[in-house]
Amino acid sequence: MAYTLDEKVAFITGGGSGLGAAAARRLAADGALIAINDLNPDAAQKIADEVGGIALPFDVTDSEKFDAAVDECVSQLGRLDIMVNNAGIAPANVSEKIELTMANMNARMSGDISKLEPMNYLVDMSDADWDRMIKVHLYGAFYGCRAALRHMQPQRSGRIINISSVLGLYPSAGAAHYSVAKTAIISLTKSVAAEVAGLGINVNAVCPGYIDTPLLTPFSEVLKAAIVMRIGKGRMGMAEELAEMIRFLSGPESEYCTGDVYPVSGGYTG
Ligand SMILES: NC(=O)c1ccc[n+]([C@@H]2O[C@H](COP(=O)([O-])OP(=O)(O)OC[C@H]3O[C@@H](n4cnc5c(N)ncnc54)[C@H](O)[C@@H]3O)[C@@H](O)[C@H]2O)c1
Repeated sequence: MAYTLDEKVAFITGGGSGLGAAAARRLAADGALIAINDLNPDAAQKIADEVGGIALPFDVTDSEKFDAAVDECVSQLGRLDIMVNNAGIAPANVSEKIELTMANMNARMSGDISKLEPMNYLVDMSDADWDRMIKVHLYGAFYGCRAALRHMQPQRSGRIINISSVLGLYPSAGAAHYSVAKTAIISLTKSVAAEVAGLGINVNAVCPGYIDTPLLTPFSEVLKAAIVMRIGKGRMGMAEELAEMIRFLSGPESEYCTGDVYPVSGGYTG
């Protein structure tokens, strides 16, 4: 049986680009009405226009604005059925130490680890970088879950999809803040899912591998090539491939799936 999302309303954070935009197109194609959030108002408006939805730009780290936007979504579109907590940022300096990484890799391959130089990823991380990364990802997902439940609990139905990462499963050197936030999103997902499973609300986490979106703009070609070597499929994923998982978790097909974690990684081995 082919299910549709007719009369369902989806709210997607960070929907002006990449995975969020692809999810908006995919859910809209099956009939959902879409509210697009993004920090970038023009990007949110562009995707909202494309899918016939509404744009609600704000920063997901602002809980008051988050609550107000979800209320506005319900006021304009009538209800809230699907919340996709997707907004995210990449570590900014991810390619800066690539030469040192390669030198250390060579030292390891030569069997002489006395030649290893400190990477200083953590030592060089500022308080502001740490705070922003945790706030955008973890606080953003918390605020999104909370705002969504205020509407989903009374209607006794809903789907919340939190976008984590394979780095939430296999924490990465150089991205402690990102890895911690993404692991914590998995824990948040399981805790909230356990709380509301009996109320008809499913809460799941998706862990994308490396997906070709603007998020990877700071990655150098050398770094990308090194990453692709660790992907069984031999390529990065496409946003549309992630959107299929978000579509599955948004509809009645996934009724028995909650508190669960779904990697879509092309065989990434960490
Ligand atoms: N692309 C990948 O390889 C990959 C891998 C694993 C996980 N993810 C996760 O997927 C999600 C989407 O990433 P993407 O690849 O589509 O990136 P992207 O950069 O293409 O899109 C992210 C969007 O989020 C928006 N955003 C950033 N901070 C925001 C904030 N504070 N409030 C509202 N919007 C904000 C950006 O403006 C942007 O439009 C992120 O959570 C990311 O961590 C991506």
